[in-house]
This record gives sequence, structure tokens and C-alpha cells, in this order.
Amino acid sequence: MVFQKLTETVKYIRSIAPNKPRVGITLGSGLGAFVKEIEVEHTIPYHEIPYFMPTTVEGHQGNLIFGKVGSQSVVVLQGRNHYYEGHSMETVVFPTRTVALLGIESLILTNSAGGFGETMQAGEFMIIEDHINLMGTNPLMGPNIKELGPRFPDMTEAYDKNLIEKMEQIFQKQQVRYHKGIYCGVSGPTYETPAEVRYLKLIGGKAVGMSTVPEVIAANHLGLRVAALSCITNLAAGISRQKLSHQEVTDTAKQVEKQFTGFLKEFVQSI
Ligand code: HPA
Repeated sequence: MVFQKLTETVKYIRSIAPNKPRVGITLGSGLGAFVKEIEVEHTIPYHEIPYFMPTTVEGHQGNLIFGKVGSQSVVVLQGRNHYYEGHSMETVVFPTRTVALLGIESLILTNSAGGFGETMQAGEFMIIEDHINLMGTNPLMGPNIKELGPRFPDMTEAYDKNLIEKMEQIFQKQQVRYHKGIYCGVSGPTYETPAEVRYLKLIGGKAVGMSTVPEVIAANHLGLRVAALSCITNLAAGISRQKLSHQEVTDTAKQVEKQFTGFLKEFVQSI
């Protein structure tokens, strides 16, 4: 069933955008401005694509964009669906699977996250080197879709080491402060309690967010090379005295837009 739906979706998209992209990019909360850097060839709103769901969260535009960044051909998911919106995991990872079947080799995922690493400040970046899935489910539950990948996918190197190294080199070259660490994926939609953040710190995390983990799992199932970057839009609950809000998340993302865009532009071309 899922595979049939994917085939139909890919066929529809190819009827509009026949060229095969090499790199897929998912833009997280408030990070959609990167599309200004793309020489756009096609924009398809999610609501026109079979089985895609419109985005409901402010800061997530909901467009599938094809184009070039320099000489690199990309397909961009401008906005994503989240588990907390009430979508099934199948729906959450459907766009990731779609771009994989369009032929990409590498997938770059970006998100906004709360940080609790020792020296973290809002407005900094964290390269995700591994994750802990605390969503209470897994997008690969149910019968395995063998056309997509194996029943028990390996997750030893879920985040590609070479891509991590490239990201580090670019941050260093651009003299942008960055962190590297473990992302804890939670369901939301509440932000964490301070006790939960202390727990996440204890188990080795440095950032927490409500996305990315399902997509990384689905992408690894499909054998893609994955890179992921968090924009630390706020310190996690209890780290500072401030209360958390989505406004703060989108405001911070907006403030770092230039750095984020400058980084991503160079990274995409280096792959
Ligand atoms: N917690 C969970 N998700 C988030 C946060 C946070 O503090 N900030 C942005 N997304």
C-alpha cells in the first residue's frame, strides 16, 4: 500500500519535475528562507501532491522545490509534518521516502531544537552526530516494505561520518561557532519539563526537538547518506529562567538566517 502510494506520488512529481536531484534538504521551523539561495526550477505546493499533507505549524511553508544551488541539483522540502500534529508515522516520513525515490543520494535534515549542552547559547548550531529516539514509536513499525529496505536496518552510522566532517570544516572556515552532539527526539507538543531536560542530559543528549528522528530512521532504511543540523533556538526548559515559546523559536531562527543560509549553501555544494 505505502509503496504503491509512493510510486503514484513519484510519478506525479516527475511529470512536473523530470530531472533527478542529487541532494535532498528538509528545512525546519523558521529555516525556510534558504530557498532564496536556490535557482528554482519548479515549486510544487504540498497540497497539490498526492498523499502529502499540508503543513499546519507557523514557520513551515509547505512546498516541494526543485532547483540548483551552484551546480548541485537539489530537492527541498520547505516545511515538514510532525508526529504531534496527529499524523501517523507513515505520513510523517512519506515526504522523506518520496525524495529518496526521486533518486537523491544524500539527505540533509535541519531543525530547531532546545539546547542543554554545557556551553550552548541560543542562536548557535549543533551538528547531530547521533540520536536517541524517545518518541515511543518507530516509523518502520508494521510489515516491512521490502522495496524500501531491510526489516532490521543498521543504525551504527545513522549520521554519515564524512558529512559530519565536511560540516565541521565549513563551520570552521566560516568562523561560526558550532557544537556536535546527540539529539533527543521527543513527541511534543509540550516543551519538556526541567526534570525531563535533566534526564536527557543524564542520558547523554545535548539538544531536544520534536522532529528529525523519524526521517533519519526512514532515510537509513532506504540507504541514504544522512546529515542533520540543529539550530539551537532556545535553551531547553530549566536551563535558563525564561519560559519557552514558539515565538522565541521562530525569532531566533530568523536572527541566524544569514549564518544558516551561508553554511547550508556551501555544504550543499561540497557534497
Ligand atoms: N524542546 C523541544 N523542541 C524544540 C525546542 C525545545 O526546547 N525548541 C525548538 N524545538
